[in-house]
Amino acid sequence: MQITRKSEKDLVTEADVAVEKHLVEQIKKHYPDHSILGEETGRHAGNEYRWIIDPIDGTTSFVHDQPFFSNSVALEHNGEIILAAVNAPALGELFMAEYGSGATLNDKPIHVSKRDKVSDCVLGTGFACVRQNLEHNNLPYFEKVVTVIRGIRRYGSAAIDMSYVACGRLDGFWELNLQIYDMAAGMLIVTEAGGTVTDFAGKKLNTPHETLATNTRIHAELSNMLMEVKQHQ
Ligand code: IPD
Ligand code: CA
Ligand code: CA
Repeated sequence: MQITRKSEKDLVTEADVAVEKHLVEQIKKHYPDHSILGEETGRHAGNEYRWIIDPIDGTTSFVHDQPFFSNSVALEHNGEIILAAVNAPALGELFMAEYGSGATLNDKPIHVSKRDKVSDCVLGTGFACVRQNLEHNNLPYFEKVVTVIRGIRRYGSAAIDMSYVACGRLDGFWELNLQIYDMAAGMLIVTEAGGTVTDFAGKKLNTPHETLATNTRIHAELSNMLMEVKQHQ
């Protein structure tokens, strides 16, 4: 398969491009007035409904024949995410959510975990593809957190990471420098499953540069740990 690079570590395959092309065609066919933001094709002008597409989240996993990659699609209306789908084809798992109506995994309702101490938790994180050029990167946060928790997972798809928080397989997730298309769907799936998604300070996400998604019970404790690191950056 043809593979190109957006940056030294950020890959794009012909599958990424083909999946996005298919999704854009289908959206334009069924909702011709809607706007679209796709990771690979950028902005398509339209009305206040905006589809946010990451055609393959976890391209590195996909290229290396690992199962943790997903197709992530969200629908935003006037700035609020109202529909979400994260499809993990190699795992046979489809996570979905509708604003105010809960979240599901393969059509069964899901809910975040009930663990309330960070030391009992398994957390996910990631190291952004642009990591090699970052002044502030995830390593100091990783060092602080990994010595406290029960376990750490780096699956390779932020959309799957957040979906796993929603179904309780992860108790929380944090990452720096995610883009809106990495997390738009995952955000709604987490919150509709009873979780919380904010920046590291626990404030509403107004920049994609800090993402903290948890089961709500550990949010304040984990936020404090991340903020201790941030204040020394
Ligand atoms: C990547 C994945 C990965 C995260 C990177 C993202 P992509 O998305 O979500 O888990 O750590 O920061 O760029 O590039 O494969 O769509
Ligand atoms: Ca992505
Ligand atoms: Ca992608």
